[in-house]
Amino acid sequence: MSTPMNDQIFEAVVSTVAPGGQAHVAPMGIRYQEGGIVLMPFKPSTTHDNIVATGRAVLNIVGDTRVFAGCVTGRKLWPTHAAERIDGVRLACALRHVELELAERRDDAQRPVLRMRAVHEATHAPFAGFNRAQAAVIEGAVLVSRLHMLALEKVETEMSYLQIAIDKTAGPEEREAWQWLRAAVAQHHARAQERTS
Ligand SMILES: Cc1cc2nc3c(=O)[nH]c(=O)nc-3n(C[C@H](O)[C@H](O)[C@H](O)COP(=O)(O)O)c2cc1C
Repeated sequence: MSTPMNDQIFEAVVSTVAPGGQAHVAPMGIRYQEGGIVLMPFKPSTTHDNIVATGRAVLNIVGDTRVFAGCVTGRKLWPTHAAERIDGVRLACALRHVELELAERRDDAQRPVLRMRAVHEATHAPFAGFNRAQAAVIEGAVLVSRLHMLALEKVETEMSYLQIAIDKTAGPEEREAWQWLRAAVAQHHARAQERTS
């Protein structure tokens, strides 16, 4: 029996600007497909609304995983620079950024598909290699972004496993990011207990 093929997804950070000028930063899974970059933001989403309103976004490839952990724990203000070819912003910590224009929108009540075309890209710093703690922070950030729909035991079990990579391979940025995620899980736990007591 053959295993079904999944889409290969890369975790990146998408920066957008609202029509009023307010910058917005959100981690997002991206697919390199259909000759472009495909984004699938769940509705409701500021990222989705900004792209539909302006037709633009910037894809940021980052090594500082505090952006992932920060965005899902209420730390959404990250230093940015103006984009070069489009009206937009890129993260100051981006190793590489790609400036995007909306090429095609397939709307959906829950998960629209936005196919973006690259109009400019630039590299700012080298990729340092894979780091298990960075991967653990990204997994932890996914768990925290889904706390409202996951069982507490599952979150605890997975965080305990991810802790191993943090203990063995984290640097200061990953330790700080992990602490934000742990605090968010603890707060969610405490609120759940309050509701049942
Ligand atoms: C690693 C990672 C990947 C994510 N990928 C997606 C995604 O593909 N689509 C989505 O809607 N949200 C994704 N999220 C969650 C969003 O970043 C988060 O919910 C965000 O608030 C999106 O809504 P916003 O544009 O209103 O900020 C991801 C979160 C993380 C940590």
